Amino acid sequence: MLEKTFAMVKPDGVKRGLVGTILQRYEQKGLRIIKAKLMKASKELAEKHYHEHSSKPFFPDLIDYITSGPVFAMVLEGDKAISLVRLLNGATKVEEALPGSIRGDFATSTTENLVHGSDSAASAEREISLWFPDE
Ligand code: RTP
Ligand code: MG
Repeated sequence: MLEKTFAMVKPDGVKRGLVGTILQRYEQKGLRIIKAKLMKASKELAEKHYHEHSSKPFFPDLIDYITSGPVFAMVLEGDKAISLVRLLNGATKVEEALPGSIRGDFATSTTENLVHGSDSAASAEREISLWFPDE
């Protein structure tokens, strides 16, 4: 099924110069970049984006991290795009992210884990309108 999803290279990925490498993985898989921009998220945007985690102990660190520098935000389209982006991104826990995935190959931290991908069709729709409100 043709889907759109929201994906993002987080501030550590931008700082480490991994935007090109990460985009190449999505494109090589066959996903199409249909919107993209480099931007710094406000605290308000970051809190809305991660509202489901607002009661978790790591929430303050997560908001500080996501707002610590520019992110590369994008909308990707393709067959099963939502689950494919998460497969390419790799598992959330650093010790479970397999080699071959973006996190498995490049991340050494569960919080600073380079990439985001929407986890469902409802999240994708919500996150696309949150990050690309005027388009
Ligand atoms: P994301 O939403 O960023 O794509 O990541 P995810 O679905 O794989 O993981 P999720 O459970 O939604 O967590 C969101 C982000 O919070 C940070 N995190 N830190 N220190 C910790 O225990 C912890 N757990 C999660 C990560 O940046 C994670 O991607
Ligand atoms: Mg998530």
